[in-house]
Amino acid sequence: MAENRVTFGSKLGVILATVGCAVGLGSVWRFPYMLGTNGGAAFLLVYILFTIFLGLPVMITEFFVGRHSRSNTVGSFKKLAPGTRWSWIGYNGILAAFLILSYYSVVSGWTLEYVWQTLNGSLYGSGAADYTEGFEAFSSDPFRPIFWTAVFIGLTHFVIVSGVDKGIERASKVMMPLLFLILVVMCVRSVTLPDAEAGLVYLFKPDLSKLTSSVVLSALGQAFFTLSLGMGCLITYASYFSKDTNMQATAWQVTLINTFVAVLAGVMIFPAVFSFGIEPSAGAELVFITLPNVFEQLPLSFLWSLIFYILLAMAALTSTISLHEVATAYVLEEFHLSRRKAAWIVSIGVFLLGIVSSLSFGVLKEWTIGGLTFFEAVDYLTAKIMLPLGGMLTCIFVGTRIDKKVLKAELTNQGTVKFYLFSTYVFFMKYVAPAAIGIVFLNELGVLDFLFKGTR
Ligand code: PHE
Repeated sequence: MAENRVTFGSKLGVILATVGCAVGLGSVWRFPYMLGTNGGAAFLLVYILFTIFLGLPVMITEFFVGRHSRSNTVGSFKKLAPGTRWSWIGYNGILAAFLILSYYSVVSGWTLEYVWQTLNGSLYGSGAADYTEGFEAFSSDPFRPIFWTAVFIGLTHFVIVSGVDKGIERASKVMMPLLFLILVVMCVRSVTLPDAEAGLVYLFKPDLSKLTSSVVLSALGQAFFTLSLGMGCLITYASYFSKDTNMQATAWQVTLINTFVAVLAGVMIFPAVFSFGIEPSAGAELVFITLPNVFEQLPLSFLWSLIFYILLAMAALTSTISLHEVATAYVLEEFHLSRRKAAWIVSIGVFLLGIVSSLSFGVLKEWTIGGLTFFEAVDYLTAKIMLPLGGMLTCIFVGTRIDKKVLKAELTNQGTVKFYLFSTYVFFMKYVAPAAIGIVFLNELGVLDFLFKGTR
């Protein structure tokens, strides 16, 4: 069985596919939206600290679990700790993948609408207010966004059914470098707009008084979400790695590239936000109302806009593929169904949930759970709770159940590649990451405040 699993075709293929999974709407859409609703640069600072000190060790740990077990998210824990409840980490991950995919497909659908509006010429009217109005009219419509959600899930479904090696790898190879290039062009345009400095200050000059427990939790959630951690996506991908994939190097590369893309997205968005007088805390629509303004300032705006939204849709696609694959691989291997059947089950379920998410921008706007719309609540539950929890438990699992020799052998490809900071990594994985995530949770729940009341 293990020998029959497909593996990625080349070294570059491994990196690109994993980068494709990580880089997506999380960096380009969610990062600016989170930064804007969490007060700016202080968020960036915490996010970067979490990425390096928690994200990276968790990523290496997930790579270990995936390649060592050569199995899907649930199967891997079952294989490494048979008969225990550790496989619940896997179930948490699969549920998270399923939930994330449902609202992620809605936002991915928005990118397709923007491709469409660019093509038929209806996007470029005049002035910032129009873009906000235009977005609101579209996103609150009961049919249009759902149509695009369906199209997007259909595309994802198609790639998943045609197989891991051909679909994912080929797609990532072309699209990622192109996206990168166009982001750079957009950044240059954005920072040369009038009053662009205000945006750069907002993005890079931390005001530590803005650091509240909810900002810290949001930064943690963003780090996990954007690196695709804590839900077994990277476990599933690593199960397709070959035995000589250098996993530590891959983890570093993916983390750095992903963080760099997020910072580029920030540089692309915030100077423009300030230059056009848009509210940085506009929320989920921030990127969609800001960018058309920037495109309008470029020669051949139509062309840039078209290429950008197509690439963004594709970056989203390489992420939705990975989310879908987590769920499909599980259904397929655990229930012994065909790939086609497993994929259908996932696609239909995700679409039904996606409909509710999409409607929460319109007819279901008033229907809130703890003050959050359905869309926001699913995002909150997954990014801020399920993913950090999954990452924390994965670390505790490997830290307590896996022999360090076995861990080291797997991470160094049986001693053929060096792992210079192995004991530092083990320390972070075993103690720092679980403790830090635990503290952030307690802090958000107000437990720490309660305990230290009076001593502050
Ligand atoms: N990391 C992806 C992004 O930033 C989203 C994602 C989350 C993909 C979790 C897979 C798993 O767009």
